[in-house]
Amino acid sequence: MKKKGKTFFSCSSCGYQSPKWLGKCPACNSWNTFVEEESTPAAAEHPIPELAALRREAAAPVPLAAIESTPPLQGQTGIAEFDRVLGGGIVPGSATLIGGDPGIGKSTLLLQVLGNLAAAGRQVLYVTGEESPGQVKLRSERLQIDSPGLFLLAETEVGRIIGHALELRPAVLVIDSIQTIRTPESSSLPGSVTQIRQAATHLINLAKTAAIPLFLIGHVTKEGAIAGPRVLEHMVDTVLYFESGTQHPYRILRAVKNRFGSTNEIGVFAMTGSGLHGVDNPSNLFLAERPATMAGSLVTATMEGTRPILTEIQALVSPSPSTGIPRRTVIGIDRGRASLMIAILEKHLNLKLADKDIFLNVIGGLKIVEPAIDLGLVAAIISSYLDRPIPAATMVLGEVGLTGELRRTSFLEQRLQEAVKFAFDRLIIPQNNLETAERKTMAIREISNIKELPAILFQP
Ligand code: TYD
Ligand code: MG
Repeated sequence: MKKKGKTFFSCSSCGYQSPKWLGKCPACNSWNTFVEEESTPAAAEHPIPELAALRREAAAPVPLAAIESTPPLQGQTGIAEFDRVLGGGIVPGSATLIGGDPGIGKSTLLLQVLGNLAAAGRQVLYVTGEESPGQVKLRSERLQIDSPGLFLLAETEVGRIIGHALELRPAVLVIDSIQTIRTPESSSLPGSVTQIRQAATHLINLAKTAAIPLFLIGHVTKEGAIAGPRVLEHMVDTVLYFESGTQHPYRILRAVKNRFGSTNEIGVFAMTGSGLHGVDNPSNLFLAERPATMAGSLVTATMEGTRPILTEIQALVSPSPSTGIPRRTVIGIDRGRASLMIAILEKHLNLKLADKDIFLNVIGGLKIVEPAIDLGLVAAIISSYLDRPIPAATMVLGEVGLTGELRRTSFLEQRLQEAVKFAFDRLIIPQNNLETAERKTMAIREISNIKELPAILFQP
């Protein structure tokens, strides 16, 4: 019988270790995240031979002047939406973690990226620990990828992966997925906290030392975080999440951490029969099924990074069936912000909302956090409350303060340009927000307080 080594418990969320099982993690406050693991024997007992090569590579000091800079792969992925989220393109030596629900399209996206790079004449390596080479081949045929520069490796042992990567020197290395990779240093199961952390450490080390950009695909837990210790997120340069609005064929790629760019950028993709296609005009998508003449629907413009996106906000105000607390259901908008707007409407426009259920929804699965949509929320609620549709070509923008006053909104010109592109020509915005010169070219109503809104909102 195999002698059981010393065990300890670690938090599968943040990696905190304890000799005893704990119900609640003292470090990250998650419940029921502790799993038992076997202590790692000293690394020397199970050396990874390939690490020696990696260490040799890193060992010698080199004059900065003698180092050749690796040309960035900007634009070469051929997927503009992907490049934008990364902050312009793939950075040499960078490590990126990409998470998302099963079936969302992580493998598809990265296979397409590698396919494009290979078609541009680069050598790239896709390590599959989850699917057989035959399955990956099947997908690549569907995506019409057949460049000789794309190499496939079915391997889960981190040392051998490093060995092959050092030999092949791929322009990009993809690991699908990090949860399947194991390291001989640790006897715990693949997918355990220790395994994931150690395997990732070696792979990230490889990326930095050999200047090979690394993409780690990661599964997501039921709670929506990347499975494995949260320390992974601190170890990599960039963390991307691939998400979808429910029941929509399109997907949103979002950076939650990025050392090389903004975390506000999103990439929008549509999943089609032949893979993912970038959607370069997302406003189209988010407005596609809009009921133009329904009460409670309104279009506003939100900034996602540097890009304005038109999106529909819907409100449903209905009498609360019970005598208890009325329901407030909010999707895609900050709950606190929504409560604030409801309170402001009650106070300054005398709307009787305390005995009404209110449902607020941003169509298309976007999550909007900026206050520029305040006035849009207010208008949608008023429209549903009065059961009066807002004229179809209307757009409202502006932050609302506690006294009902309107605040200036950033990037107003960009938002208005996008509005005009989609034939929204009734624009209601905060006073003094626009320069006079631009004002002349558009049909704009300016207001300074929400009290002025109901009078002009429904005018044809
Ligand atoms: P996949 O990339 O395997 O997801 P993940 O790696 O995140 O688990 O994507 C799987 C889904 O995408 C699957 O439901 C099939 C669908 N799909 C398409 O619709 N079109 C395609 O061209 C491909 C390759 C997949
Ligand atoms: Mg996959």
